Amino acid sequence: MEGLLKLLLKQPLKADLTEVPGLDNLHAPLGMIKDAQEIAAEAFGAEESFFLINGSTTGLMAMINTACRPGEKIILSRSSHQAVFGGIITSGAVPAYISEDSQGKPWEFSNVTVSEVEKALGENPEARALLVNNPTYFGVCPDLKELRKLTSKKGVLLLVDEAHGGHLSFHPELPAGAAEAEADLWVQSTHKTLGSLTQSAMLHLGGRQVNRERLIHTLKIFQSTSPSYLLLASLDAARRQMAQRGKELLDKVIFLAEEARSQLDQLGFELIPLEQGECKLDITRLAFFTGRFKETGKQAADILRRAGKIQVEMCGRDHVLLLLTLGHNEEDLAALVNALRFLRERLTLKGLQKAPVQKPSLPPIPIQAMVPREAVNLPFERIFLGEAAGRISAQMVNIYPPGIPILVPGEVITPEILEYINRVKMELSEMEGSIKGVKEITVIK
Ligand SMILES: Cc1ncc(COP(=O)(O)O)c(C=O)c1O
Repeated sequence: MEGLLKLLLKQPLKADLTEVPGLDNLHAPLGMIKDAQEIAAEAFGAEESFFLINGSTTGLMAMINTACRPGEKIILSRSSHQAVFGGIITSGAVPAYISEDSQGKPWEFSNVTVSEVEKALGENPEARALLVNNPTYFGVCPDLKELRKLTSKKGVLLLVDEAHGGHLSFHPELPAGAAEAEADLWVQSTHKTLGSLTQSAMLHLGGRQVNRERLIHTLKIFQSTSPSYLLLASLDAARRQMAQRGKELLDKVIFLAEEARSQLDQLGFELIPLEQGECKLDITRLAFFTGRFKETGKQAADILRRAGKIQVEMCGRDHVLLLLTLGHNEEDLAALVNALRFLRERLTLKGLQKAPVQKPSLPPIPIQAMVPREAVNLPFERIFLGEAAGRISAQMVNIYPPGIPILVPGEVITPEILEYINRVKMELSEMEGSIKGVKEITVIK
């Protein structure tokens, strides 16, 4: 942890202040918050940066509500975070989805491609904005610079959900961050990949195409009027750490990640390639696949926790996601490697096949009968899943993992979707937070 932050946390109650004289005001900064945000903008390559005290969630809501007025189109990946749908519902924007083609690979390997975006821009010439993930939860980064060229040509705003990519711009060997691609707006969960406290995040403004006044008004709507100074100070500390030692710290993380990848490869686990066509992997996100083995990703994660005290970031039926962070060191790597070797000894091969078992693909994106904001404002009722085909969903349905929405409010429920939900209910029955018990769905009356 950064020295400044350690100092602050020695007496956390003393630092748990709010907007008293001398401590500036997050909603109209003129003093220390203004100064801290200005230095952050410089460090993160933005025109202007805004501190957030309710995660990237607030940033995404503010971003979409700034970019889109009711009825305006936003092109986005279907695999977007639920806060993005919160932004779509509150703004009244009309979503146009890109369903990534994972080309026969598990969906975890993919992100949007330049040709998919080009096609979507052609089909939606009136679109106001394009929103992409950089990286995805699994670390896959799109070719942001090419996406910038496409959106600039069409006068479309480039918005980036960089919740998991706060570190990208600090090392030349990592995939390009939104700053290098000159995005219009991007949000980073500083608390996820950098050293600030949980819930603290930043929204960065890059382009002059964004209405700055509207952005500031929107942030006032979504942010608390009682911001925690512990969170704000931790953002400043994280900025300082990265500005002073970002490259050096990331050199170490990249070295650890390369070692861990090589060990996983030698142990026979499938990994996401570092490059797949135009998409590049953020090496600090280390997903491995357990499809060759009888045990599930969840069982593998349990073994790692019990035997090696390794807490994974996420696991699913056939995968485990590990993260290497600025705080890890060689000792942690040695512990991880030992735990992985132990895990491999406990796993049983299904057969001789090398390729992972094919997974059921996600059902096609259903027809949007009405925009999400309209759907959430109509009278609704709860009915049994078995009776829902043909009805319009009044709720989001996203099954974790991965959390990709199967249904968004306003979409028509198809037999394929119901069949998918039933199949996942059976397959995920042993997973935590399983949807096994879910029998009903909320639909428009
Ligand atoms: C891709 C993505 N975007 C946004 C968010 C929301 O970030 P926060 O938890 O900082 O609000 C998350 C959270 O996990 C995420 O995975």
